[in-house]
Amino acid sequence: MKPLLAIILAALPFATGAAGVAPPVIGGLTRPEKTTPRISGAVLLSELSCAACHATARPDLAAKPGPDLSAVGARAHGAHLREFIANPAATKPGTTMPDVLGHLPAAERTATADALAHYLATLGGASPTFTPPAPPAVERGRNLYHSVGCVACHSPETPLADSVPLGPVAAKYSLASLAKFLEDPLAVRPGGRMPDAKLDHFEAVDIASYLLRDQTAPPPAFRPDPHLAARGKMLFTQHRCDACHTVDGPRTRPALAALDQVRPGRGCLSAQPGAWPQYSLSDAQRTAVRAALAAPEEPLSAAENVELSLTRLNCLACHQRDELGGVPANRNAHFTGKDENLGDQGRLPPPLTGVGAKLKRDWLREVVVNGASARPYLNTRMPKFGAANAEPLAHWLKQVDTLPPAEFTRVAKGDKPHEIGRELAGSKAFNCIACHTFRGKSAAPIRALDLTTMTERLEETWFHHFLANPQRFAPLTIMPGFWPDGKSPLPDVLGGDSGQQRDVLWQYLERGPEAREPQGLVLEPLVIPVTDEAVIIRRAFPGIGKRGIGVGYPGGINLSFDAGQMRLGSIWSGGFIEASALWRGQGAGQARILGKDTTTFPPGPAFAVLDSPDAAWPAPDATPRPSPHAFTGYTLDAQQRPTLRYSVEGVSVEDFFLERRDPGGRVFIERTLKFPAAPPAGLHFRVATDKLIEPRGGHEFAVGQNLRVRLPSEPLVRPAGEGKELLLPVRGELRIEYHLTATP
Ligand code: HEC
Ligand code: HEC
Ligand code: HEC
Ligand code: HEC
Ligand code: HEC
Repeated sequence: MKPLLAIILAALPFATGAAGVAPPVIGGLTRPEKTTPRISGAVLLSELSCAACHATARPDLAAKPGPDLSAVGARAHGAHLREFIANPAATKPGTTMPDVLGHLPAAERTATADALAHYLATLGGASPTFTPPAPPAVERGRNLYHSVGCVACHSPETPLADSVPLGPVAAKYSLASLAKFLEDPLAVRPGGRMPDAKLDHFEAVDIASYLLRDQTAPPPAFRPDPHLAARGKMLFTQHRCDACHTVDGPRTRPALAALDQVRPGRGCLSAQPGAWPQYSLSDAQRTAVRAALAAPEEPLSAAENVELSLTRLNCLACHQRDELGGVPANRNAHFTGKDENLGDQGRLPPPLTGVGAKLKRDWLREVVVNGASARPYLNTRMPKFGAANAEPLAHWLKQVDTLPPAEFTRVAKGDKPHEIGRELAGSKAFNCIACHTFRGKSAAPIRALDLTTMTERLEETWFHHFLANPQRFAPLTIMPGFWPDGKSPLPDVLGGDSGQQRDVLWQYLERGPEAREPQGLVLEPLVIPVTDEAVIIRRAFPGIGKRGIGVGYPGGINLSFDAGQMRLGSIWSGGFIEASALWRGQGAGQARILGKDTTTFPPGPAFAVLDSPDAAWPAPDATPRPSPHAFTGYTLDAQQRPTLRYSVEGVSVEDFFLERRDPGGRVFIERTLKFPAAPPAGLHFRVATDKLIEPRGGHEFAVGQNLRVRLPSEPLVRPAGEGKELLLPVRGELRIEYHLTATP
């Protein structure tokens, strides 16, 4: 039987609210036919932040915090802020922010919103500046947006109903401010409803470029006026904006009627304008809120708490749990994987049915709090929800999900269980490695979950139940049952005792990464080939850290660039990189450089303004690190060679490397640094630092054993540490040649 309220709620997304304004969209309630009224009512109250103003002792009604506005002026354009504050639901249809100024006469409302916008625009430093998105970044961003999981909650490019609105992002953000938000959404929106997709900086820039693809001109200029801003600051508390938003202190709850005492036909629920926030609720939503307020105040059971959290945080947009949730048919195509052999398990997020009994407490916590991952073959990512939002959920899941103990007799250590287990896992017995990777290595084209991390993640009891009958847990899995009807096909191992055979597998895998490799595993290094086009790998590189970009050029010269410090990291010839460490986790490892003649450039800035020719070069940690957003991305030429774009010392730089051949046919790299605007006086570029720097005639210098550079003009050669440094004054375009002595 369908509860009446649920039927009403099912009609929600298509209804319109008061005054013809779109009602708030609550992601988790777009599939309400399966959620109980008790839960949907509580979700509605928490997502609309009622308890931010009306006190309640019920933890299930706790208010979702509004965005942290302490730096909103650097994030959002002033003109947009003014419009949004004056009329939230008309500016961003479906928003959950109520209209707080709705009761004011039109002129006063406009003036109030204006003053508030002037105040907020002063928060957080410089206001966003316009950078047009680059077409290749838009394209990469479009792919990412439609594959990493955004469209589980938001609309794909072809609009879909039941989506969490994004609003007019092009009027609100700049490329840099949106990228910054996407890189760490929990910092701005601590409630975790917009979770952290673990985007690296480049991915965030790409997705921001896609979302801002229609931003072709700067939004209207907006200069904060200090007088208006001062008035706005007052109005901010006067209108109780600080009940939902933090600016510099904690949120403050006004002294109003408590939630269990409000008269449900009045105030915020009356659909009349008055000195209270206007929620533009649909009739069905208003009915649901009233019902929730009238519901008895019994504390929720652990199972109900699980359902409440899964709905509130919209986990069910990606995951199925029992009869709830799962990827809906109209979004299914956006859930993809890298390995078709794995079937749906290689593309859909795993079901959460019984997950509390499956995963160990620590790992479960790591997954929901930090988005820990074990399946590099899925394109969709498990996002990060943060401890405050997801830790209690992990606790309730452990409480709710249970399994009876597994029945087996443990094989004593003296019998070398791990060696028997190793045999069972190998190609002569159960051949687990036919489908599972082992320490990141695989024996076959199928590369499912790594065997060496299983015992760290899984409860032993679950492992036994699962192996005994995988189909019971995952009906469509390609993982076979090895003990049909409980009987082992290997009667000679441990007397054919299936429980003991599972036990030795567990004991073997419990050795984790230290376990000896099973038989049949082939170890192929993963060399990234470079043929007639350049190849780019954006990952961690030695000496650079996460913000590395590796480029392999046709002809066999390769380089790494540090997009955190805006400098060349290293250059080498021969093979490009070996990347197996990268495929093991979602990018946990570093790329291994294959060159034997690598020249490494010093950490720290490559550009600096020097007041005099003997002013010291800034030390790597003495200078403020460049803003993480100084790197604005790259464009590619027809051969996929990147032009890196960034700004240093207030000027923008276009940095391009081209492989060329000298008269003897040997490949070298020609680097062109362009400065579209005039560089500041005293700007210098540091070409290299090395123990050995020797002039070779012309403007040529040997740098260390493996590199020769040819410069466009006479450089400054100065002592530096134990060696020397080579500096070029920057007055305009620079062209530098890098010749590797080992190049064939
Ligand atoms: C920003 C603060 C704020 C938020 C958030 C808020 N309210 Fe109110 N609410 C008020 C004010 C102010 C009044 C009118 C003052 C009064 O009557 O005490 C009011 C009055 C009410 C009343 C009538 C009280 C009475 O008995 O006369 C109800 C019912 C009510 N609110 C329900 C809600 C619900 C439900 C929500 C969430 C959907 C909500 N409010 C969110 C500020 C808020
Ligand atoms: C689990 C659901 C979910 C997923 C997955 C998700 N979002 Fe969101 N997103 C939300 C919700 C809900 C909000 C509004 C949060 C609030 O009310 O504070 C939001 C807000 C946003 C905003 C802010 C809009 C504004 O008005 O400023 C942007 C931008 C955004 N999301 C982009 C993305 C991108 C890009 C991805 C993928 C990398 C993504 N989201 C993934 C649920 C999600
Ligand atoms: C009941 C809680 C509530 C109250 C009261 C409230 N807001 Fe909001 N506000 C929100 C929520 C929730 C969002 C996010 C909405 C979205 O993304 O659709 C938001 C978003 C915003 C944003 C955009 C922030 C960003 O970084 O994207 C601004 C600016 C803002 N509110 C200003 C105000 C001002 C000014 C007031 C007082 C006049 C106010 N708010 C009152 C809940 C509230
Ligand atoms: C955007 C889609 C998405 C959302 C939203 C999402 N997840 Fe996930 N989740 C995934 C993906 C993809 C994986 C697989 C990650 C992996 O192992 O590499 C996953 C894995 C998990 C796992 C590990 C399961 C296992 O058997 O290994 C748990 C537990 C989990 N998610 C819980 C949650 C919870 C709780 C929420 C809400 C707070 C949530 N997820 C929201 C996509 C999502
Ligand atoms: C024919 C392919 C195949 C073989 C052979 C195979 N598995 Fe699997 N196994 C899979 C697939 C596919 C999954 C699901 C992966 C996923 O959820 O992404 C899986 C899942 C598992 C899981 C559940 C892990 C989790 O966290 O969800 C365990 C445990 C497991 N396998 C152990 C083994 C062991 C031990 C062997 C050898 C005795 C083995 N498997 C042999 C394909 C196989």
